[in-house]
Amino acid sequence: MKLNIALLAGDGIGPEVIDQAVKVSDAVAKKFGHEISWTPALTGAAAIDAVGNPYPDKTHEVCVSADAVLFGAIGHPKYDNDPSAEVRPEQGLLEMRKKLGLFANVRPTFTFPSLIDKSPLKRERIEGTDLVFLRELTGGIYFGEKGRRDGGETAFDNCVYTRAEVKRLAKKGFELAMTRSKKLCCVDKANVLETSRLWRETVQAMEKEYPEVEVSYEFVDAVAMRLVQWPNSYDVLITENLFGDILTDEASVISGSMGLMPSASVGTDNLLFEPIHGSYPQAAGKNIANPLATILSAAMMFDMAFGLKDEAEAIRTVVNKSLAKGVVTEDLAENKKAYKTSEVGDWLAANI
Ligand code: IPM
Ligand code: MN
Repeated sequence: MKLNIALLAGDGIGPEVIDQAVKVSDAVAKKFGHEISWTPALTGAAAIDAVGNPYPDKTHEVCVSADAVLFGAIGHPKYDNDPSAEVRPEQGLLEMRKKLGLFANVRPTFTFPSLIDKSPLKRERIEGTDLVFLRELTGGIYFGEKGRRDGGETAFDNCVYTRAEVKRLAKKGFELAMTRSKKLCCVDKANVLETSRLWRETVQAMEKEYPEVEVSYEFVDAVAMRLVQWPNSYDVLITENLFGDILTDEASVISGSMGLMPSASVGTDNLLFEPIHGSYPQAAGKNIANPLATILSAAMMFDMAFGLKDEAEAIRTVVNKSLAKGVVTEDLAENKKAYKTSEVGDWLAANI
């Protein structure tokens, strides 16, 4: 099979972790007789520096004409510390999500048997955790009207959702639940927010189409608590953009390191795969960042974009093997030898 993939390394540790995902993907392609054509394109601070725009038209064209997009990370401290900056790297990511129509962000949280004791949570609480968040990605407070009034003394960000937006995300949630444990949790704040009441109303109306799915409705603050108490009680969770942003960072620590969790962003026409972690600027260029979240995102890509399940499984298997053998970066090494980012990539590629 010929796979055309847009490669958006982005900022910070993005290029380093992307390099490892390319190595491992190429090794898988070689083993299974596929041919990958990678087309690199600029995004984020790197794109601002080069052409003054964090998501240039040229990059959009590359993404649209590819079969899938593999993305690293976005963000640069020089913008974080300058609230007055008019052009920001993150705008590129949001524009990319919007323009590619990537309305559902699939963020799994699972544990690795060999890392159970690396988690800050107790073994008995997290064993068996295997949940998936479906985070709405192109609406809500991220994209509502925002601004200042009263001469800059008052700021606002509006949270807006349409029934159609909720429905298409919830549909993906129900469908995913049907392929898993048939449990769906709608996470909202319906005791306070009107948008949440629209979410709840919409999901309730859809329940009869999926009679086998057991649906629960929980408030986001309670979910934040239960996620660290009994993460293994959840299966599929659907939620709006900002709640999903926050809860998926929280959930990622269950596995033992933020550098482990992959994600897929899906829409009607395009697919993008990216680690859930950020650009980790403190580690940029040091060859120490954990590349596994990006490599596991590449595994999701083989599976979801191309239906190549054995190829995806080959990546997951070799990742598990590296963890069991202690071929890990410093975030997981503790007192043992820490491998460099590129060494982990080399080891995985060689062992595919
Ligand atoms: C994420 C990130 C982004 C988000 C930032 C970089 C804009 O935190 O993908 O979760 O908030 O969506
Ligand atoms: Mn986030």
